[in-house]
Amino acid sequence: MLSDSYGRVATDLRVSLTDRCNLRCTYCMPAEGLDWLPKPDLLTDDELIRLIRIGVTMLGIDEVRFTGGEPLLRKGLPGLVAATSALEPRPHTALTTNGIGLARMAPALAEAGLDRVNVSLDTLKPEVFETLARRRRLPDVLDGLAGAAEAGLTPVKVNAVLMRGINDAEAPELLAYCLERGYELRFIEQMPLDAQHGWRRDDMITADEILALLAPSFDLEPADAEVRGSAPAEVFYVNGGPARVGVIGSVTRPFCGTCDRVRLTADGQLRNCLFAREESDLRAPMREGATDDELARRWRAAVARKLPGHGINDPSFLQPTRPMSAIGG
Ligand code: GTP
Ligand code: 5AD
Ligand code: SF4
Repeated sequence: MLSDSYGRVATDLRVSLTDRCNLRCTYCMPAEGLDWLPKPDLLTDDELIRLIRIGVTMLGIDEVRFTGGEPLLRKGLPGLVAATSALEPRPHTALTTNGIGLARMAPALAEAGLDRVNVSLDTLKPEVFETLARRRRLPDVLDGLAGAAEAGLTPVKVNAVLMRGINDAEAPELLAYCLERGYELRFIEQMPLDAQHGWRRDDMITADEILALLAPSFDLEPADAEVRGSAPAEVFYVNGGPARVGVIGSVTRPFCGTCDRVRLTADGQLRNCLFAREESDLRAPMREGATDDELARRWRAAVARKLPGHGINDPSFLQPTRPMSAIGG
């Protein structure tokens, strides 16, 4: 088991497969992109599969989510999914993606054993998409969503980060679009994780504001706490249910007390939190010949040091040096 000193147990492993991306969302990275991790630093498919196997078979991980950057850019993705879903006990598998290329890949991913996907969609307007993501790819994202639903990668969840004056007024339209298609939309408070360090608290659309934006158009009923479990999204039934909408209030409604996550970066570093200031290297010991037991021991020791919370609301908060795209959302 991966326990920490606050009684939490990490059972959900989020694996970043690459720090690269084919979009340039303003809340994530600058227009020119970033200094990508050098190839030799990245874990190979075999190294990744080994660490996932150790997590699942020795440490109690029961859900594996592939993230990025953009995980569909990783060539070996279907093989990684297949190897993960072949493990015993079989973990749940999920993918968080921007949706570009998903329409083409969804059948192969479902075939490989992927259970479900979360897709980012911040706007339905092509010109707003171009402002926000700096690329003209909205149709690819919408096709990706439809392709995922068709391939059975369900429930298809949609992630929308609302930004003041850019897409906040679109919240009801986004929800209507998702309700019509059976996607579960979650609105996300913007977090201080952008590479440019441009996050400002006053610019953030808060969970309260999100609910106020939806209130004139929808009747929202909070779901019981069990429906949420340890997930970041607070769940609301829409117009009497069963359709749902989520609000991920990481900043104003932190959920660190029930966090069950641990992260593995594409270059083989364990992180206990998006906002962690410490990482634990598994790549170097692995490349120096560590046994599975030794890697599991290091992993347990790393999780044991997990801090109680992200600290965003502390006066001394410092944004992590790694941007979101290199941590895996
Ligand atoms: P589900 O299991 O489908 O609920 O996944 P998820 O919502 O945890 O994952 P996803 O990758 O879709 O992330 C949605 C949003 O939640 C993103 O903005 C993530 O950065 C944020 N998020 C995910 N995990 C954490 C976490 O541990 N802490 C915080 N503060 N935010 C998180
Ligand atoms: N704050 C909140 N969410 C973010 N995402 C990316 N950057 C941020 C941020 N600074 C979202 C993406 C994606 C998910 C993995 O995280 O929109 O849906
Ligand atoms: Fe790419 Fe995701 Fe960052 Fe947007 S938020 S640039 S889709 S990694």
